[in-house]
Amino acid sequence: MRDQDLERIETKTGILRSRDGDGGARRVEAEVFDRSTLTVVNKLFSDGVLETVEFPISTGKEAVVFTAKTSDTHPGVEDTGWAAVKIYRISNAEFRTLARYIDGDPRFDKVKRDLRNIIYTWSQKEFKNFLRSEAARINVPHVFHVRRNVLVMELITNGDEIAPMMKDAPPEDPHAFYHDLVDQIRTLYRKAKLVHADMSEYNVLVRDERPVIIDMGQAVVLEHPNAMEFLERDVRNVVRVFTKLGVECEEEGLMAEITGKGEEGYPLEPADKHDDPNSRRHRIRKGFRID
Ligand SMILES: Nc1ncnc2c1ncn2[C@@H]1O[C@H](COP(=O)(O)OP(=O)(O)OP(=O)(O)O)[C@@H](O)[C@H]1O
Ligand SMILES: [Mg+2]
Repeated sequence: MRDQDLERIETKTGILRSRDGDGGARRVEAEVFDRSTLTVVNKLFSDGVLETVEFPISTGKEAVVFTAKTSDTHPGVEDTGWAAVKIYRISNAEFRTLARYIDGDPRFDKVKRDLRNIIYTWSQKEFKNFLRSEAARINVPHVFHVRRNVLVMELITNGDEIAPMMKDAPPEDPHAFYHDLVDQIRTLYRKAKLVHADMSEYNVLVRDERPVIIDMGQAVVLEHPNAMEFLERDVRNVVRVFTKLGVECEEEGLMAEITGKGEEGYPLEPADKHDDPNSRRHRIRKGFRID
């Protein structure tokens, strides 16, 4: 990258500007903005997708999420002038953990299995999972762009504030919130044909007292051999969280409600299909399809 590009990024990236202040911010900067990530961010600036990158909302093990100024808009998405930019760390990712969620997904069957590629695919996968969920009218952030390990999406807000995680803002009406969330998980399963696979009070934001589901990198299609196991874990988490809030719910009933097992028209048992040698599980090794 040329020096002038680096300079441009420095003036546009709040976190790089605050060099003298916060040592933590500088550490994040060094870990997240490796050369290739800077090149991507620079391209997002020059393409006019981003105007500035501001401060980190969250600095997790696998990804850092920043606020950013953007002029991108989308019909139906409130034009706040802000975006959330999720940058996956190339250095820290646990290769095997990620691979578990990509292997078995027919959309990503031929992806080269080196770390950089796995992470780029991971971001692509999150992008596609969000699009697919949005198409099924699930409450998720709208995604604007994905490039390598950088995902640009709608910043979920309540007025001037970034929407909190459910963990930090228990809903005022837990019953209504529970039914709302269950409705979304059911639609995710039945219509988007996805299982979130990391459903928890950390990955549900509260906007106007309604759940917004985030963090979909690990979400899997129903054909995935572990889809039912992941759904059961999601259901266990939902029951745990809402039982604490005084909502009466239990795992078996909730599983049935989501999958429709036992209901006419929904005899879906994706996990069982994998015992059949002609099933997709055996074919996905060959084909390459991204939808
Ligand atoms: N679109 C968004 N709008 C507002 N806040 C967001 C958005 N996306 C993410 N966040 C905030 O950033 C946090 C981390 O995002 P996310 O859950 O997608 O990353 P993560 O995969 O959990 O990262 P890690 O596993 O490294 O902790 C979220 O808990 C949420 O507080
Ligand atoms: Mg998360």
